[in-house]
Amino acid sequence: ALLHSQLSGDQVIVVSNREPYIHERSDDGVVVRRPASGLVTAVEPVMRACSGTWIAHGSGSGDREVVDAHDRVAVPPGHDDYYLRRIWLSAEEERGYYFGFANEGLWPLCHVAHVRPVFRESDWEAYKAVNQRFADAVVAEARSEDPVVLVQDYHFALLPAMVREKLPQATILTFWHIPWPNPESFGICPWRRELLQGLLGSTILGFHTRFHCRNFMETVDRYLEARIEQEHSTISFQDKETLVESYPISIEWPTPATVAGWGPVVDCRQRVFARLGLAEDTCLAVGVDRFDYTKGILERLNAVERLLEKHPEWVGRFVFVQVAAPTRSSLEEYRSFQDRIERLSARINERFGRPGYQPVHLLAQHHEPEQVNELFRAANICVVTSLHDGMNLVSKEFVAARDDEQGVLLLSRFAGAARELTEALIVNPYHVEETADALYQAATMPSAEQRERMASLRSTVHEFNVYRWAGHMLSDAARWRLRARVEARV
Ligand code: G6P
Repeated sequence: ALLHSQLSGDQVIVVSNREPYIHERSDDGVVVRRPASGLVTAVEPVMRACSGTWIAHGSGSGDREVVDAHDRVAVPPGHDDYYLRRIWLSAEEERGYYFGFANEGLWPLCHVAHVRPVFRESDWEAYKAVNQRFADAVVAEARSEDPVVLVQDYHFALLPAMVREKLPQATILTFWHIPWPNPESFGICPWRRELLQGLLGSTILGFHTRFHCRNFMETVDRYLEARIEQEHSTISFQDKETLVESYPISIEWPTPATVAGWGPVVDCRQRVFARLGLAEDTCLAVGVDRFDYTKGILERLNAVERLLEKHPEWVGRFVFVQVAAPTRSSLEEYRSFQDRIERLSARINERFGRPGYQPVHLLAQHHEPEQVNELFRAANICVVTSLHDGMNLVSKEFVAARDDEQGVLLLSRFAGAARELTEALIVNPYHVEETADALYQAATMPSAEQRERMASLRSTVHEFNVYRWAGHMLSDAARWRLRARVEARV
């Protein structure tokens, strides 16, 4: 209701690379899946609440023929709350724009994950062209001169200025879901000025934390002739003002009816334990991530190994399950990372495993949200050890899953979430010893302490849910729209 009132009468258009639903052909006809993406997790409930159109690349819907009929389709299936409009990219466009510039250039550039960014001229050309295609689609969808356009993430740094050129009155809210690095790190990108200028086409530019906002403003200060007003958090560039603000993203808090549908924690635990063949007294730690080198999966496996080495009493009773959803697998960096993780898991299992006991289970497949939720409810510990992460919504989903107020969250200090979820066990994932000690502390934590920490984490995520995130951003936008209208009159 809050979102509706903030947008009364306004048209909302979302732009993101990833589509919120994937349509695939199977033996039972067309099935609909949900992709693993923090962005989709957060933005989808907001779109359901305020309707409008979501423009996305039909990337996951691999079989174009299947989804051709779904070029512009009402979703979610059976509810039809809003429209999903797909943009089809050629293999070459996808290679340059998505795999190339976005994921070999900007992704490692912004995460500073010690993976060297790759900048190819041809990727940059594709990135520009695809940003233009999406900008054209926004303009084609617009029914008025001033729609509200919600631009998502690093795939579309140039799009805000492109839309601004055609629709000067539009309210463009751009949210950068990944970190923003310091000016020195960002400065190695050959097209740093173009990217900054593109982003400054936004009315509001949002990041997860103040820290990322400051990095962005310092980067602009370093490379563009712009006026920066620290105390208002605004940047004036070529007679146009952009508000740079932090909006910590979150999840939809589950309703009582949803929670009732999950069934008791003991049942979840029984099902998961039976499926994985775990002994009853096992301490189960889980990690759930896209199979990505920024997530610290290698570091957490090292910590698991160190735990078993330091505390042999846990050998036989401590099991770590890693769900790793395949992602960007056509890139060599991702493939070789996946290989290394497989080899390391096998080595740990060889070293500490015995008949009936396998310390590491690597489940490298896509899991639907319901399966992940069941795993969260079955676990004693959830391990989030990102080397760098804008926010990390897995940590918040784990907390939301635990209405029994049990379970321990181990969280990297380099994830945006660590600033809010302070009752988690906060670790530096680069420090194996520290992470192993935190695993031990989690495995031996008394139930009363778990309850105390979990209750406090839950009240934080409950209060600062995704509607807060969107509401905060949209009420800032409403203020700016009003101001612009008043100024236009005088
Ligand atoms: C991160 C990015 C999103 C992206 C998601 C999944 O959360 O910030 O923009 O959609 O990862 O990555 P993929 O490349 O599979 O869409």
